[in-house]
Amino acid sequence: MAASSDKKSYDTTGLKVPVSLGVIMDGNGRWAKKRFLPRSAGHRAGAENLKELCRNCGRYGVKYLTVYAFSTENWSRPEDEVHKLMDLFVEFFEKYDPELEEEGIRVRFTGDIESLPERIKKVCHEGEERSKNRPKMQLIVAFNYGGRREIEYAARRIAGLVKEGKVEPQDITEQMISDNMYLPDVPDPELIIRPSGEMRISNFLLWECAYSEFWVSDTLWPDFGYDELTRAFRDYAGRDRRFGGLSSKEAKT
Ligand code: FPP
Repeated sequence: MAASSDKKSYDTTGLKVPVSLGVIMDGNGRWAKKRFLPRSAGHRAGAENLKELCRNCGRYGVKYLTVYAFSTENWSRPEDEVHKLMDLFVEFFEKYDPELEEEGIRVRFTGDIESLPERIKKVCHEGEERSKNRPKMQLIVAFNYGGRREIEYAARRIAGLVKEGKVEPQDITEQMISDNMYLPDVPDPELIIRPSGEMRISNFLLWECAYSEFWVSDTLWPDFGYDELTRAFRDYAGRDRRFGGLSSKEAKT
């Protein structure tokens, strides 16, 4: 991902919204448990809500929406749950692509995609190809994604450049690391939202979140709708982002 974006997005009412937003879609299991349903029903409701989030973010003027759908650690879940999540992934992009198209949403994937089963890779490659000219917003799905794995990937690529004699170790910069991540053209998220009350980053966008604002809500992901998103954006709009410096008011005194 690219270093922090200095572009700004505003919705039609003048509310400042993030250009690049990250969402950790957490709480599907608890949502299902509260309703005496299997966990897979929670994931299905979560997928429905992702569709809703895309629509709302597109309308708010968000340009890049990165969602955490499956982590490199999620393979340790019961085989049946992993299998159902993979099936849901395939179904989502087959069933909802016309709606994403209607909303002008381009789909991209970030993560260790090449290690995924063939049928999943196919969905990723075809989905990216089919949607590449859609103009309104990019939906970036983090799938088999781990922040540490991504940093490892960048390190390996840079080590390759050093080995080929194209880069001297002392010339390695933060920008070079950013440029060698999975999707270097995607701006770092200005805001990361985590529903379900957990206060942790869970290996999501570790490099990219250096200056992200965080917003945590107790609402479980399948119930996280337009009103919650609006609350998060209003709160974000009032934040003073200093990037380690002083606020503009303080700098003048
Ligand atoms: C974490 O909640 C959620 C996941 C591991 C899966 C997220 C997947 C979706 C929202 C739907 C599928 C996505 C696509 C792109 C089709 P959890 O199950 O750990 O919840 P819990 O903490 O309440 O148990």
